[in-house]
Amino acid sequence: MKTGQARIQFECGPVRFAARAFGLTPGRREVILYSSQLVPSSLPRNVPLSEFLALIEALEQQVTDTLRGTDASARLDVVKGELNALKDERLASLQAGIPKLEAQDRKPGGIRFNELKQKIQAEFDAFIARQSAAGGSAAVIDLTMPARRSWKGSLHPVTLVIDEISDIFRELGFTIALGPEAETEFYNFGALNFPPDHPAMELHDTLYLGQDTLLRTHTSPVQVRTLQQYAPPVRVLCPGQVYRRDFFDATHAPAFMQIEGLAIDEGISFVDLKATLSEFARRFYGGSRRVRFGPSYFPFVEPGAQMDVEVDLNDGKGLRWVEILGCGMVHPNVLEAAGVDNEKYTGWAFGMGPARIAMSRHDIPDIRLLYDSDVRFLEQFAR
Ligand code: PHE
Repeated sequence: MKTGQARIQFECGPVRFAARAFGLTPGRREVILYSSQLVPSSLPRNVPLSEFLALIEALEQQVTDTLRGTDASARLDVVKGELNALKDERLASLQAGIPKLEAQDRKPGGIRFNELKQKIQAEFDAFIARQSAAGGSAAVIDLTMPARRSWKGSLHPVTLVIDEISDIFRELGFTIALGPEAETEFYNFGALNFPPDHPAMELHDTLYLGQDTLLRTHTSPVQVRTLQQYAPPVRVLCPGQVYRRDFFDATHAPAFMQIEGLAIDEGISFVDLKATLSEFARRFYGGSRRVRFGPSYFPFVEPGAQMDVEVDLNDGKGLRWVEILGCGMVHPNVLEAAGVDNEKYTGWAFGMGPARIAMSRHDIPDIRLLYDSDVRFLEQFAR
């Protein structure tokens, strides 16, 4: 017997005759169609027509009562399974009994048998109709069907890096601050101590939107906006999109994310910068990657530095240093332009590229992979 059939409960019809004839307990209330012994698996030879017809009668009655009495919430697949089992076994054995009848009884027996088959089908069709009228859900939803695995989507590797870096700096006491992507020359260059003829301000390096407005080339303008609005002590982290007139090659993209950091307070020195960024690297790379600081130049910091991380891009060239951020002590002119007392306060700032950081962490050799939107590549980073 199949397992799991006891889940639906079938009402038993008036089966007294058959019960008597085949030794069933009359009055049993819960009967599974499939396990019904109303019709034995094989009929004896020369069964009288009256008994044959009584079997048909009893089975018809039972199926009718059962299907009519079955709650419309019953699972269609289970009911269907029961019905198929009934057809395969009980109906088959009744049919096989027809030739065993007396010669003159075979025709009326066969006709009645066909009526039974049609009746069962009609009752079953009516059951399905009732079920779908009752909402149809039970008729179409099979909760036991294995779910189809679907691609849920995931955060982009660069977004994951930004979130992770934000979490690390939040723990170190930084607040997230956001600034506009369309900036003025003052915030993007002037207030950041760019000399008026600095090459970054040339048309071929910067995307201008109008006379004085441009797409910000870095997130450093948010330093100025923050300092104008909040008095020190200040610790902010500013992620955002920036734009440059760069060719899209293995290491450059014309639009990319940056994360700016700024810490201003009394008595802040280069030691704080180095200690904080080293701690960030330790937390982010887990201490397994070597990092180093080297001198660099940005007009808005003095001294300026860069932090490199050692990576192996799996291209056979072995370990190499990759610059992941620029940093330095905030230039007194920047503090002054933002209205901060540069005698009293000092601080440091950094700007990092999360795409490069994602590349350095996952040994990705070409930045374009991050922008191709190839799911086979992206789903490797899915969490
Ligand atoms: N704004 C610089 C850049 O875009 C990075 C930077 C930020 C450097 C802050 C020093 C301090 O390259």
